[in-house]
Amino acid sequence: MSAIESPPERIWWKQPLDRVEGTWIVLAFVWCLIMFFMMPYWHVYGKQNLSNEAYKTTADAFAKKTQAFVDQNTIRTETEQKIPVVRPPAGGDAYLIARLWAWWPMLELEEGKTYRLHLASMDFLHGFSLQPENINIEVHPGYEHIVTVTPTKAGTYSIVCNEYCGINHHTMASKLYVVKK
Ligand code: CUA
Repeated sequence: MSAIESPPERIWWKQPLDRVEGTWIVLAFVWCLIMFFMMPYWHVYGKQNLSNEAYKTTADAFAKKTQAFVDQNTIRTETEQKIPVVRPPAGGDAYLIARLWAWWPMLELEEGKTYRLHLASMDFLHGFSLQPENINIEVHPGYEHIVTVTPTKAGTYSIVCNEYCGINHHTMASKLYVVKK
């Protein structure tokens, strides 16, 4: 018998199931179930799984909230562009705008404190990638993404955009400071 000829019996699927075939179907099914239940299990017990929320918003509404946050909490400015470095209240909300081709403002968080990090894009799809940690969040326009984060190690982290967003995508980088209390 070969694959290019018709099978000898036309109604081949009504033959009894071979034991080997049945065994493999059961094995594959059990493995599917294991992998399926590993997803919620790993979400709860894994160390790097984000529980993020997303709400509809507009660029204007989010920019207003971010501006108010910056006006209240800026502690200094950095670089020639005078990008504000903002220290959100410990345990409070932090806002970060993604747009062509920058992150705004810079954040300075306290080690061991939990923050609600709000992210939104002003224009196109961007990607929030925190280096050297392995944290990635797609930032879609029209949505406010909220991630609850607790930085555990002081240091200077990099934020890079990891969704291609045009000619200056490679320059869309910023910093995130985590300081000891
Ligand atoms: Cu923003 Cu790539």
